Amino acid sequence: MPDNPRNSPVSLLPRPGEVTADGSEGLALDAATRISADQAAGPTLTWLRRELGAATGLPLSIGHEQDARIRLSVDPTAGLGEEGYRLIVDTEGAIVVGHDPAGVFYGAQTLRQLLPADAYRDAPVGEASDRWKLPSVRVTDAPRFRWRGVMLDIARHFQPKREILRFIDLLALHKLNVLHLHLSDDQGWRVEIRRYPKLTEKGSWRTESQVGMTKPPVFDGRPHGGFLTQDDIREIVAYAAERHVMVVPEIDVPGHSQAAIHAYPELGEVGEIPVGTRWGIFDEVLAVTDHVLDFYKNVFDELIELFPSPYVHVGGDECPKTQWKNSESAQQRIREEGLADEDELQSWFIRRLGDHLTERGRRLLGWDEILEGGLAPGATVLSWRGEEGGIAAARAGHDVVMAPTATSYLDYKQSESPDEPVPVGTLLRVEDVYAGDPVPSDLTEKEAEHVLGAQVNLWTEHIDTPRRLDYMVFPRLSAFAEKVWSTHERDYAEFEPRLVHHLGRLDAAGVEYRPMDGPRPWHSRPGVQGWG
Ligand code: ACM
Repeated sequence: MPDNPRNSPVSLLPRPGEVTADGSEGLALDAATRISADQAAGPTLTWLRRELGAATGLPLSIGHEQDARIRLSVDPTAGLGEEGYRLIVDTEGAIVVGHDPAGVFYGAQTLRQLLPADAYRDAPVGEASDRWKLPSVRVTDAPRFRWRGVMLDIARHFQPKREILRFIDLLALHKLNVLHLHLSDDQGWRVEIRRYPKLTEKGSWRTESQVGMTKPPVFDGRPHGGFLTQDDIREIVAYAAERHVMVVPEIDVPGHSQAAIHAYPELGEVGEIPVGTRWGIFDEVLAVTDHVLDFYKNVFDELIELFPSPYVHVGGDECPKTQWKNSESAQQRIREEGLADEDELQSWFIRRLGDHLTERGRRLLGWDEILEGGLAPGATVLSWRGEEGGIAAARAGHDVVMAPTATSYLDYKQSESPDEPVPVGTLLRVEDVYAGDPVPSDLTEKEAEHVLGAQVNLWTEHIDTPRRLDYMVFPRLSAFAEKVWSTHERDYAEFEPRLVHHLGRLDAAGVEYRPMDGPRPWHSRPGVQGWG
């Protein structure tokens, strides 16, 4: 009889290193089941009790090591590797040992996946029954890459704090560990900066938004805006840290800066400009003056206070040089600094910010355009225009994170169907995200050590609601998660039934993923953003 993957006892995603399941009786959870943890595993104990307690309605009282059926601990001497864990379930109990606190958290995530999909609900459905059974299993697991990331653009369309928290939970469910927040762009500034209040007072709202990609452009006539307060950021960072997700802030300079220039016109080359309402690449860029450098150093100083991440992203992408070619101050800077051209001017500007971050013990991260005109010392490169930037940076001895458009841009269309909402970019199906290796094959083993990992990017020009966000992100993110976590050779035919099983978890969690067999007609309605 063919296995129904939704009923399969051990169907885990991302696929763990080693799984042995003998099909024998496992552990049933009931009202008497107690749970214990050593001190280092304490935060995971709190998380697991809250999540499983909500879904099952069981008290999962805290017990002692002797009487607890579920036991969590951290043991760096267990030979499990960074972020690794071992999970053993038999009739006696379930034991999770992590190499470190992250490892025990991932072990607990795997334990949750061993339960029925209803373990992902926020409240029990029907009677508490005998269905809360863990199969007998032994799992040994550790991730392939240490950077398993997602970029979320909250500049084009703002996502409020509650959605970002939900998104962090969904990352953690997939054992992803980096949330890169794109906090500023032409169309909006999204983080409170105490020293420069106009950034959010003026820069966080635009009068309307372009809808779709028609020529001539069509606008919705509705204001759009919002921003995260510094308290919101502290809450997001703490929530993410509990789930072993590092939040990396990005303020995009010196292009993509219209919202900041609208707030403080002296930052730009041409005086007053509105917050952008169209999507694209625009000539309005920052001036390369001492005033602008000081302004952004102050902005980054406040960000550093809020975000403990060792990496701070300064953007650097898509900066047209037209205004600098015609700018007296830019040309004077080029002459004074002995720079060859406007590319070197951008590089000079990024290096100044890099030095500033380095002095404060942080590392500069930037899109691969920061290679043009020379890389700042110690910079980490996010390779998006194919693999070339990543290859060049790794060969030059810099760390890189791979996010080439062809496999990593979750705003790209998922099929050629006319019902696909605002189809941009090249075709990027689940299997396309799953395929390909994050490490470029051109790199030697030594050079490949600079590949920290990979991330997918979610640009939100055409994603104005959490519902559409879910549609674009899932289940492609599930495929990506396996690519960056699992050390197994990937085989889509082997993966697909596990993905189908996994969709049951996403259903229970209320995720409105794109159906595997394609969009429904209501997923795209001309002239309407999002649903309903
Ligand atoms: C980018 O997609 N502009 C980094």
